[in-house]
Amino acid sequence: MHNGRGPFNEAHDSPGTRHGAVGAVTPDRERETPREDAAARTAKEGKDVDYTAKLDDAIARLHEEGRYRTFIDIERKRGQFPHATRRRTDGTERPITVWCGNDYLGMGQHPVVLAAMHEAIDATGAGSGGTRNISGTTVYHKRLEAELADLHGKEAALLFTSAYIANDATLSTLPKLFPGLIIYSDALNHASMIEGVRRNGGAKRIFRHNDVGHLRELMAADDPAAPKLIAFESVYSMDGDFGPIEAICDLADEFGALSYIDEVHAVGLYGPRGAGVAERDRLMHRLDIINGTLAKGFGVMGGYIAASAKMCDAIRSYAPGFIFTTSLPPAVAAGAAASVAHLKRDHARREKHQTQAKILKTRLKGMGLPMIDHGSHIVPVIVGDPVHTKQLSDMLLEGYGIYVQPINFPTVPRGTERLRFTPSPVHGPDEMDRLVRAMDELWSQCALNRAELTG
Ligand SMILES: Cc1ncc(COP(=O)(O)O)c(C=O)c1O
Repeated sequence: MHNGRGPFNEAHDSPGTRHGAVGAVTPDRERETPREDAAARTAKEGKDVDYTAKLDDAIARLHEEGRYRTFIDIERKRGQFPHATRRRTDGTERPITVWCGNDYLGMGQHPVVLAAMHEAIDATGAGSGGTRNISGTTVYHKRLEAELADLHGKEAALLFTSAYIANDATLSTLPKLFPGLIIYSDALNHASMIEGVRRNGGAKRIFRHNDVGHLRELMAADDPAAPKLIAFESVYSMDGDFGPIEAICDLADEFGALSYIDEVHAVGLYGPRGAGVAERDRLMHRLDIINGTLAKGFGVMGGYIAASAKMCDAIRSYAPGFIFTTSLPPAVAAGAAASVAHLKRDHARREKHQTQAKILKTRLKGMGLPMIDHGSHIVPVIVGDPVHTKQLSDMLLEGYGIYVQPINFPTVPRGTERLRFTPSPVHGPDEMDRLVRAMDELWSQCALNRAELTG
C-alpha cells in the first residue's frame, strides 16, 4: 500500500506497534508481568551496551542531515501577540514577531477567553484532580462538550487532553468496537492518526493523498461485508490543501463505511460558526466522527471528537487514551468553551484571517517566491533544502526579529523544506511590510530561485 509520496509513509508502513495492542480497559495487573519481563531482559542485555554513544549517534545523524531541531525560547506578552520576547541561550532578550504560530486567530489572547480562565481558576483551583472516571469530570468539562456537540451538530462530543490523543485513542480503539474493521487512511494524514491506525491491530489501507480513485479501488477490492472507515483531514497543514470531503462521503455511503475527519487546522477558522470546512461545505451531517483541537484556532489546549451519543459513549468506555489520564484543568476547559462560543459569532475575525493570508500570499508571489497556494490560510514558501531553510530562519530571527520555524523532513518530504507562515488577524500592516521586505532582501542575498511553484 506504500506510494512513496508522503512524509509519513515511513510511519504508516513501519512494522509492528510501539506499545503492542492494549486491550480496552485492560486491568493494570494484566499488563505488569510482560512489562517487568521486558525490563529485566533489557537490563541483562544492556550490560555491554554504551547507551550514551548510541544517543550521541542518533543526535549526530540529525545534525548531519541538517534536521536537528532547535527550540526558540519565547515569552508571549498578554494583549500584544504576535509580539513576544525571545530569550537567547546567553540570557539576553530581544523583541520578535511570531509568524509561525498556530494560534491562528489570536484567541489565546482574547479577553473573553482570559476572563473565563481567571474566573474558573478563582472558582475551582488549578487541576481537575483526577481522570474523567475518578473525580475529574467537572461542570466545565460537561459544558465544553455540550458546546462542541452543538458546534458540529452532533449528539455528543468527547474531550481529550489534545487532538493528538483524540486521534490516536479513537482510531486505535475503533477495531475493538468493530471487529474486522478496515481503515482507509490518506497517505498524508497527521502522525497522530497514523499512530492510532498502525497500532490498533486492525487492517489498514493507505490511499494516495486526496486520490479518491485510488481509495475507491482499494475499497472495491475488499470484502463488501467488512466494516470500514475512511480517515482523512479537511486541511493538510503543511501544504494548506483541502481534503475532498464530499467525494469521500459519497464513497463512504457507497461502501457502507464510516467517515472520520480531522478538522484540526479548520475549526474556529472556516464555516459560518467556525465548525470547519465540512460546515462551510454543508457536509457536517454526512461525517460520522469529527476530530478537532482546542489549541489552534481556539487558542487554548485540548482535543475532542464529535459524533453520535453511542459512538462517544463507546469510545469513552473503551479508549485507554481517554480513560487512564487526568482530565484537562477546569480553567482550560472554561477558556476553550468561551473561545468556541465566541467564535460561533465572530465572523469578522474569520474573514480578516482569510484576508490576511490572501494579502501575504499575493505579496510574496508578486516577488516570485516559490509558494504553494491552495486557497487556505496557510502560507508555505518552499526553500527546498534543510540547511538553507534553517539559515533563512536564523537570519530572519537575528537580523529582523522575525520568527518563523524551519520545517524539515520528516514533517514534509525531503526537497520541499519550507518556511510556513501563519498570518493572523492580529498581525498589523507594518509587521506584514517588514516581513515582505525581509524575505525579498534575504532571497536576493542567498541567491535563491524565484521561479513559481503552483498549487
Ligand atoms: C492534522 C493534525 N491533527 C492533530 C494534531 C494534534 O493537535 P494537538 O496540538 O491538539 O495535539 C495536529 C497538530 O499539529 C495536526 O496538525
